[in-house]
Amino acid sequence: MSKVHVMDHPLIVHKITKLRDKDTPVKEFRELVNEIALLMGYEATRDLKLVDKEVETPITKMVGKEIAKPIAVVPILRAGLGMVDAIMNIVPSAKVGHIGLYRDHETAQPVEYYCKLPVDVDKREVIVVDPMLATGGSSVAAIDFIKQRGAKDIRLMCIIAAPEGVECMQKAHPDVDIYCGALDEKLNEAKYIVPGLGDAGDRLFGTL
Ligand code: URA
Repeated sequence: MSKVHVMDHPLIVHKITKLRDKDTPVKEFRELVNEIALLMGYEATRDLKLVDKEVETPITKMVGKEIAKPIAVVPILRAGLGMVDAIMNIVPSAKVGHIGLYRDHETAQPVEYYCKLPVDVDKREVIVVDPMLATGGSSVAAIDFIKQRGAKDIRLMCIIAAPEGVECMQKAHPDVDIYCGALDEKLNEAKYIVPGLGDAGDRLFGTL
């Protein structure tokens, strides 16, 4: 069973509260998502493996450490885009994949309409980012598609999760740890997270 890490660092909690406020304007919302993703990215990479790396300082040679496995960050379009820059700031060598899904009206199944991943995704530690883990449908499908392309080490980072989404993810992908900033109460009939923050994509891109 995968682990759920609720990252209740005071700065993350403080910023998520501002993010939830319906009166927070688009510009501030976008900045907050970036700041939260940065703080979360720091926590979500805490357990990355290190290997020895020889380095020559101006004084002497020594054996330091470097991250063992390169990283890929994969935003689920479109709201996940708001979290990419933050990860790139802390891991500038990361490569970025993109995945877009829509729900087929007849079958209710998620269909991939765009997927471009680093060619060596199978050798990378993949951080899938999406601010809201609601039903879990799109995260599960996105991770299915990413696994089909060979990725083995995947973690999911979201800002707010609903218990329904966590359960769905844990059933479908018990090997994928979930990192979230808040675990909310439930979903409403329209599948929005309660209390949540509304539609993250609309609030990020001003399409309200
Ligand atoms: N997606 C969102 O952007 N918000 C929700 O509450 C649920 C899904």
